[in-house]
Amino acid sequence: MVSLRVIDTKRDLAPVPAVALEDVSIVYGGTGGPAYEAVAPTSLAVGNAEFVAIVGPTGCGKSTLLNAAAGLLKPAGGSVSVFGQPLAGLNAKAGYLFQQDALMPWKTARDNVAIALEVADRPRAEALEKAQAWLTKVGLAPFADRYPHQLSGGQRKRVGLAQVLIRNPKILLMDEPFGPLDAQTRIIMGGLLLDLWATDRKAVMFVTHDLEEAIALADRVVIMSAGPRARIIGDHAIDLPRPRDVAEIRLEPRFHALHKAIWGQLRAEVLKAYGGTP
Ligand SMILES: Nc1ncnc2c1ncn2[C@@H]1O[C@H](COP(=O)(O)OP(=O)(O)OP(=O)(O)O)[C@@H](O)[C@H]1O
Ligand SMILES: [Mg+2]
Repeated sequence: MVSLRVIDTKRDLAPVPAVALEDVSIVYGGTGGPAYEAVAPTSLAVGNAEFVAIVGPTGCGKSTLLNAAAGLLKPAGGSVSVFGQPLAGLNAKAGYLFQQDALMPWKTARDNVAIALEVADRPRAEALEKAQAWLTKVGLAPFADRYPHQLSGGQRKRVGLAQVLIRNPKILLMDEPFGPLDAQTRIIMGGLLLDLWATDRKAVMFVTHDLEEAIALADRVVIMSAGPRARIIGDHAIDLPRPRDVAEIRLEPRFHALHKAIWGQLRAEVLKAYGGTP
């Protein structure tokens, strides 16, 4: 006998998010020492091909949330799912660009990128060829034989980007990837990231403390409150047209209106994090 199931159109046909954090809470320490509840039960869904920026005061729990999405941290409560499947262990669909440089100082730029494929058992010749192609895409073809200490901060970030993208992850987790760079280089890097993203839209979780950068790049800007027990207190759709010029878009009246509205909410949290009053 054929069994029929009634389709709940709202639920069954809704697109499955690339990453969904549901009521995730994160507690550090506890065994023997005091427990610190960094993140209170928080939910966040990032759609396939969606670019979500996460902004919040220093120490609020942005990296913590990203680590939960990467499967590096097990939540104390709630669940993480990846394309509808509960996450157990590391998130194999995600590429992670860390807050700190993660290049190997004894390897050239090309080898640093190639290693991402070599550890996945791909032949060295193929890995080197693809690494060179990725270095070209990030504008570093002439620097392939340089070691990290022979590259500028922005160039090292480009190598890091190539190292993550060469594995073609479906989800990109980026933790203040352009943090230490000067303002002009950040804008150039943001433009490069949007160009690469436009050709192959991955789901992106992009952590930054820079609200302008978040608005210029993202489809949604999510605001976290100051910790402890940080949570998401705002989720703002960024309705600026694409493709965007990361520098020029900041001059648009709509950009200013969005910035004003979101900053109003963020300001109070930033002041709390520094012990001031809103
Ligand atoms: N391994 C750990 N053990 C104990 N507490 C931790 C640990 N890692 C982070 N924390 C605490 O959890 C809170 C959130 O840290 P997290 O690194 O996620 O903040 P963040 O928002 O990324 O800050 P920043 O913008 O400075 O990078 C902070 O108060 C931090 O001190
Ligand atoms: Mg951080």
